[in-house]
Amino acid sequence: MAYALEDFCQDSRTILMSDAPIQNRIDKVADKLKGLLTDPDFVAATFTEGMPAGKRELYHDPDLDFYVLAHVQEGGKRGTPHSHGASWAIYGNVNDFTRMREYRRVNPESEEGAVLAQSAEYDLRRGDTKGYGPGYIHSTEHPQTCWVIRVTGTDLDKIERYRFRKLRDRLLENA
Ligand SMILES: [Fe+2]
Repeated sequence: MAYALEDFCQDSRTILMSDAPIQNRIDKVADKLKGLLTDPDFVAATFTEGMPAGKRELYHDPDLDFYVLAHVQEGGKRGTPHSHGASWAIYGNVNDFTRMREYRRVNPESEEGAVLAQSAEYDLRRGDTKGYGPGYIHSTEHPQTCWVIRVTGTDLDKIERYRFRKLRDRLLENA
């Protein structure tokens, strides 16, 4: 059965309004997102071959403030480590893949610069999703142009969150 954007948004509302811990809720939403990423009607309505790189808002929930965003990610780009502050984000690929890396901070929060050690590396391929809860440090890389759906707990551009800064922070090699 087709799984439409409206179905996904309604399921997400129901899940996010529950009392379960936040990581538990976003894991459930991430699981629902898989159905959307592989729905041919949704994909055809959302992306077309040759679409330029950029971000579009597909849905914003007026009560819970979560967003469903469609990204065309340009190939050959690697982002820097970041978190979503007190909020969260779920990533899922419609085609090709996103190389995800996770990091942990190995020095005390009281020190100004963060020293990060990579703790995981894996690819999110077509239909794969993963939820990153509050404070979770990660980075994305897109070796080739790909289509990504991202669900975020709020407008992440408007909240305080960690972003790696070269002159302040350090990434341990082969940690
Ligand atoms: Fe992120």
